[in-house]
Amino acid sequence: MTTKHQLEDWLFWVDELSQNDFVIIDNFLNPSDLLQINQLFQETLPDFTKAGIGAINDHVIRQDIRGDHTYWLDRKRDISIPNFWSLIDESMAVFNRYCYLGLAGYEFHFAKYPPGTLYKKHLDQFSNRTNRTITMVLYLNKNWQKGDGGELELFLENNKTLTVDPILGRCIFFKSAVVPHRVIEANKDRYSLTGWFLQQPSALGQILG
Ligand code: OGA
Ligand code: NI
Repeated sequence: MTTKHQLEDWLFWVDELSQNDFVIIDNFLNPSDLLQINQLFQETLPDFTKAGIGAINDHVIRQDIRGDHTYWLDRKRDISIPNFWSLIDESMAVFNRYCYLGLAGYEFHFAKYPPGTLYKKHLDQFSNRTNRTITMVLYLNKNWQKGDGGELELFLENNKTLTVDPILGRCIFFKSAVVPHRVIEANKDRYSLTGWFLQQPSALGQILG
């Protein structure tokens, strides 16, 4: 069933995700697939718009809570990253088969955090929008170094926190409804591809933020 990654790797990752509510996978994509994504990112940068918070009828831009600029991906339009889309199909099939999640769709956006921006502690599910099930973030920061900021911080059980450096090729999956998290203030432009596997298909991400 799997083609991009070996089934035994997937089973290890799925186990971690089930046990710990998150899993970090370095080099989730090979260098040429990452390059395709970076190229599309650069091409679309002029079209990025300020991200909002909240759900339907409640969409507001609050720079103090969330300062990134985003660009929603569209599989039909964004055909220059075919291997990324195949990997998403594979991920969804694995989650459905081995975690019984009943995923039926996904939504992804590029994100850019300019220096001085952050995303305060939050959950990726809103009260009136509960279909985001698994969050995925793929980091695109070449030569990221301590001091550049923009780390992801996860708030785990027993008051534990985990800081994740947003380095190129690193991917994190976590359970959207149960892992509060924040993006620490970036000191340099911070790039990522972020998305959600959904329990029902949704085309509303661009409206909802
Ligand atoms: C988000 C988010 C985390 C990150 O977009 O909801 O929390 O590391 N992103 O970019
Ligand atoms: Ni989030």
